[in-house]
Amino acid sequence: MIVGLDHIAIAVPDLEKSIKRFMKDFGLTFNGQDDVPAAKTSTAFFPLSETSIELVHPLNGEGPIQGYLDKKGGGLHHLCFRSDDIEADVARLTEKGYQFLSEAPTLGAHNCKVIFIHPKSCDGVLIELNQPQDDAGEH
Ligand code: CO
Repeated sequence: MIVGLDHIAIAVPDLEKSIKRFMKDFGLTFNGQDDVPAAKTSTAFFPLSETSIELVHPLNGEGPIQGYLDKKGGGLHHLCFRSDDIEADVARLTEKGYQFLSEAPTLGAHNCKVIFIHPKSCDGVLIELNQPQDDAGEH
């Protein structure tokens, strides 16, 4: 079951500059940087009540975020819904014809199980589902 909007992710070409903007200019609390080598992505989270802003940046100048930046220069990258049973949601949505970017959930930022729904299944919007691992707790 989907239980909340976990975060909104913005692809950024200069991670340090964007972290400074969200901390100093916007006054948000910086919850730290979390690299996800498997996704070739570096993330930075700014929790807000009930949700977070996630900045995503290529970890080593390569990977899907680099491809996105090359094409679009930056922008709103994906929405993430929090799930309380990600396997059940994937099965339920697969049955309805949704396509996913991977076969099964993988480990993402903050030790969450994550999976992405293909944008073509959602009118061009990239949607992530995530579920914190039992031992991870909240952000
Ligand atoms: Co995300």
